[in-house]
Amino acid sequence: MTIYSKIVGTGSYLPERILTNQELERMVDTSDEWIRSRTGIESRHIAAPDQATSDLALQAAKRAMEMAGVGADEIDLVVVGTTTPDVVFPNVATIVQAALGIHDTPAFSIETACSSFMYALSTADKYVKLGEAKCALVIGAECLTRLLDWKDRATCVLFGDGAGAVILKPSTEPGILTTIVSADGQYRDLLSFPLGISHGFDRLRAGEPAALTMKGNEVFKVAVNTLSKLVDQTLEKAQVTQDQIDWLVPHQANYRIIAAAAKKLSLPMERVVVTVHQHGNTSAASVPIALDTAVRDGRIKPGQLLLLEAFGGGFTWGSALVRF
Ligand code: ACO
Repeated sequence: MTIYSKIVGTGSYLPERILTNQELERMVDTSDEWIRSRTGIESRHIAAPDQATSDLALQAAKRAMEMAGVGADEIDLVVVGTTTPDVVFPNVATIVQAALGIHDTPAFSIETACSSFMYALSTADKYVKLGEAKCALVIGAECLTRLLDWKDRATCVLFGDGAGAVILKPSTEPGILTTIVSADGQYRDLLSFPLGISHGFDRLRAGEPAALTMKGNEVFKVAVNTLSKLVDQTLEKAQVTQDQIDWLVPHQANYRIIAAAAKKLSLPMERVVVTVHQHGNTSAASVPIALDTAVRDGRIKPGQLLLLEAFGGGFTWGSALVRF
């Protein structure tokens, strides 16, 4: 008998503080019209100074656990996808684990930029399928705005903070049908935060300014091409045709990239979950936030077939075909 891992609960959290395009107009030389037409973004949420990534993750986790009806004592695996961990170590998953009062379970973070949640989901799926976990908490969470230069209009208008989570349990009913994750490190210079612990730490310590950098145009082209191929590969791997997909739940980076992926699937935009206008690019949090939004507002219904996909710095990318 095939054992699948099934999503039995979703949750998400966006920080209270909303930063609108109009406010950004007063901060840098940009316009609401430029941001909307190039990206679809209208506002983004910014974590409070005393909120860390684990705080956002914890709120999303609690909501997913509530929907799934599971207590902390049931959870036997915690995986967090993030690019913006609270501290170098301990890893964010252990901080969330402790905050939930969970003890003696695997808890680890996966760091593949915007596709981190897809990598986390793919990894947890294997634990559940192999019988190594009976109740997995999988989270995508970011305080990505901490990496921004608020004077750089090319990047500061694009990103936001947030978290999303799912609970996975084993099931004999189809759940996650397949996942694909992949990467190509040759593109590192197109999108990065160039300084870190074992590279440039002395410069950071000396107070050298550092910020996320991106060659937006080039990222755009590789993202569209890669996601098109990824969609084909995923459908082929699961032996599913594009007309069977009920919902595309894409990484929420840019409306135009989302629309290109939908076109590739010949899916009308009515069957694509779009939340980017509300929160901008929340990196690893974006797919689980979009998923939770459409589950809670009733668009996504039990039994429907979902295609989740994301693309991020590295470059890294990943997808999951899910019977909800
Ligand atoms: N406001 C006004 N003008 C701006 C702004 C801004 N915020 N930012 C850039 N411009 C200007 C540029 O300076 C340029 O001016 P110029 O023509 O005088 O030189 C002009 O607008 C056009 O700039 P482009 O970069 O060519 O604009 P483009 O149409 O490519 O849109 C964007 C830029 C939105 C960043 C787009 O390239 C994009 O979305 N790229 C993908 C980025 C992305 O999705 N990254 C995330 C994926 S991976 C991950 O999630 C980490």
